[in-house]
Amino acid sequence: MYRCRILVVEDDVSYQSVLERFLKKEFNIKVVGDCSQAMKQVGSGHFDLLLMDIKLPDGSGLDLMDKIRHILPSVPVIVMTGGGSAETAIQAIQRGAFHYLTKPFSLTELKHLVDKAIHHHRLEKENYWYHQELKSKYQFDNIIGNSPAILEVFKLVEKIAQSDSTVLIQGGSGTGKELIAKAIHYNSPRSEKPLVTVNCGALPEELLESELFGHVKGAFTGAHVSRQGRFELADQGTIFLDEVGDMSPRLQVKLLRVLQEQKFEPVGTSQTIQVNVRIIAATHQDLEVALKEKRFREDLYYRLNVIPIVVPTLARRSGDIPLLLVHFLEKFNREQKKNVTGFSKEVTQALCQYEWPGNVRELENLVERLVILKGEGEILSRDLPDKYFSVSLTSQQSLCLPPEGMDFNQTMETIENELIRQALMRTAGNKNKAAGLLRLKRTTLVEKLKRKKAIF
Ligand SMILES: Nc1ncnc2c1ncn2[C@@H]1O[C@H](COP(=O)(O)OP(=O)(O)OP(=O)(O)O)[C@@H](O)[C@H]1O
Ligand SMILES: [Mg+2]
Repeated sequence: MYRCRILVVEDDVSYQSVLERFLKKEFNIKVVGDCSQAMKQVGSGHFDLLLMDIKLPDGSGLDLMDKIRHILPSVPVIVMTGGGSAETAIQAIQRGAFHYLTKPFSLTELKHLVDKAIHHHRLEKENYWYHQELKSKYQFDNIIGNSPAILEVFKLVEKIAQSDSTVLIQGGSGTGKELIAKAIHYNSPRSEKPLVTVNCGALPEELLESELFGHVKGAFTGAHVSRQGRFELADQGTIFLDEVGDMSPRLQVKLLRVLQEQKFEPVGTSQTIQVNVRIIAATHQDLEVALKEKRFREDLYYRLNVIPIVVPTLARRSGDIPLLLVHFLEKFNREQKKNVTGFSKEVTQALCQYEWPGNVRELENLVERLVILKGEGEILSRDLPDKYFSVSLTSQQSLCLPPEGMDFNQTMETIENELIRQALMRTAGNKNKAAGLLRLKRTTLVEKLKRKKAIF
């Protein structure tokens, strides 16, 4: 069962202990005594409600509330004011507090207000997510990222959504190709019409042909009734041909004709069907290689590739990783009713350096697993499987020989220093364990450290 988290900011020790004792029965409580500690808490975790004194030893509660709003914009705040300061209470409400309590207050009064604020916050959040979900179908809000590489893609997507041109989306597996295809459709003038998806890699040739173009009764053994194909179902809308690179040569010819004339014949008949369909295709294969190897038709490639979108790998936009981590953390906390508050600095750092062969999907799956297994609190280094800590020697920074060349010995030295630094950090300076992690003898590590005394 999810327990709401409340941050109490109060310097009066007697109030601190009464509030803590009373509220902890039902909530997760964190009590701090001043503004700077409050900011630290807010910076590292999530809260559902703030209960704060107005007069704090290192500043005003009202200013603190403004600062917190930048980090947690929707969290409700209840302020506690000393007796007789009605003006401050009004000011607090004007600056966005949910409500106020005038000291001394009864515990019944407190409980009533806390319940009301939490209920209100929950409704607001639900309302927010409800609208997000509706909007997400039509907007780019659910595609996370602000790295230059992904912003280029967003810009392109926005521009081409309005047109009817064929789009070819290329990118590694799990980079977000399908998400982008959906964004194009739902932002296009065809958004009210169907978006039909076909995975061309998942079906054998004959089945795929009838899936795409339909068949008439008796077209093949087992075809007891006629069936409309996906192209017909997508009429006036968009068809998303996923893994188009896996299509057989014969079907490639048939697809080429649809691209040229928007016409095709269902299996088993010579009757031509005319449609008006926008085509978005995607593949994780490098189609230029497939062309050279004659696995993909050149004419079809040029017809499909009217507007090419290449989705960068996650490693190429590692700046997006912290955003994606928070996005999926919120998603899985919500879906799984868990209360994981965040990732430690070391974890975020390790994940930013990891290579992510499975791209965003791999990151999404990892966060889901971590949220379920951890349940609450912060994700720490020990919660993360070891592979995420290995330094990736293929990451672009470390293995890119600059055109002017580089000092080999110095580069190797830098890599060695970095690995030793990380090993010591992860083992809290324990040389035995650090040597174990690096598969070195302890004496070898100690020897190296002596030589590098100036650095470590
Ligand atoms: N920029 C992003 N922001 C938020 N979620 C993303 C982003 N990119 C991908 N995802 C999520 O990652 C998962 C994989 O995305 P998607 O299915 O679109 O990738 P794909 O390139 O089609 O993968 P595959 O090649 O394996 O079919 C989905 O759950 C998707 O919602
Ligand atoms: Mg896909």
